[in-house]
Amino acid sequence: MPADALPVLNEPLTDRFRRRIRYLRVSVTDRCNYRCQYCMPLEHWERVPRHDVLTLEELAFVVGVFAELGVERVRLTGGEPLVRRDLDRLVAAIAELPGVREVALTTNGHLLDRQAAALYAAGLRGLNVSIDTVRPERFAAITRGGDLGRVRAGLDAARAAGFTDVKVNAVAIRGFNDDELADLAAFCWSEDLVPRFIELMPIGDLDFQGPEHVLTTGEILARLGERFPLAPDGPPSGVTIRGPARYHRVTAGPFAGRKVGVISPMTDDGFCETCNRARLTARGGLRACLANDDEVSVLQTVRGDAPREALIRLIGEAVQGKLPAHRMRDPATVPASVMTGIGG
Ligand code: 5AD
Ligand code: SF4
Repeated sequence: MPADALPVLNEPLTDRFRRRIRYLRVSVTDRCNYRCQYCMPLEHWERVPRHDVLTLEELAFVVGVFAELGVERVRLTGGEPLVRRDLDRLVAAIAELPGVREVALTTNGHLLDRQAAALYAAGLRGLNVSIDTVRPERFAAITRGGDLGRVRAGLDAARAAGFTDVKVNAVAIRGFNDDELADLAAFCWSEDLVPRFIELMPIGDLDFQGPEHVLTTGEILARLGERFPLAPDGPPSGVTIRGPARYHRVTAGPFAGRKVGVISPMTDDGFCETCNRARLTARGGLRACLANDDEVSVLQTVRGDAPREALIRLIGEAVQGKLPAHRMRDPATVPASVMTGIGG
């Protein structure tokens, strides 16, 4: 292809609905040291063959092309990203890319105590840790063997390493943690963490994901409101380039001023309108949407001829294929692929 036929660089990536893609989530592995009931199936789970996993160099290269196309924020996810060896090297490589303003990580926290300092030194700044319950036995049950004590040690190590504004992600699940949402929020606030409650999504069609387990944002806020007076925070539209959470603030009492976020994929009709994200899966696929199984292979492109040019074309096509909105409320269009490996 002659050079003049290539797409112009530094032309921001924008989809057919004028949503600009500035945020890339990168699943660095489909493996996880936990087995959360709503995320990982126990059986029939096909692992990505080792050879199909992008190397750290390949990942940095792909992210670099996205950065050329206007991506400013990069989040590393999994599976559990900290089970991938030398993750700090990848963080450093991405943090140095021109155009990248923030490198962040979503982790279950189990291995964080050992890695927090190296990750911070490598340039990682955003940190989200998933904690669905503050009761150790419940935690072990939902994660199928996880250790809340280790996660708390990870949070302490992160603070000591210099991380600020650490967020805790909790999936709100009826019949599991709906009786302790306020405790979870209070725990976070006393540890100087920002809690964010996520509506349960039917991704992978797992047992724990029936509609009867979905707790709506309205219900989440009502449960929190029983203990803490809350008022919406932030711009009226709720639109930020950072992510999909909408924030509320405690207005009185010992936690006055503290923030809590809600992420409402299942009940907010406008949820997808401000989507600024694309995803790289552990399988070396590129997904324009979490909830749409359509995926193009970056792996083949990266390992083929003229990878940069081919990638630019591929990314452009994938972004053009981005749907206006997810269809997770319709049981007929629930995504079949499991969460682990897409990266949330
Ligand atoms: N619905 C909502 N959130 C989920 N996560 C994993 N599976 C689901 C689901 N089905 C969350 C994890 C983690 C983030 C990456 O995604 O708890 O916080
Ligand atoms: Fe692992 Fe996160 Fe999935 Fe739990 S939710 S099994 S910690 S990837």
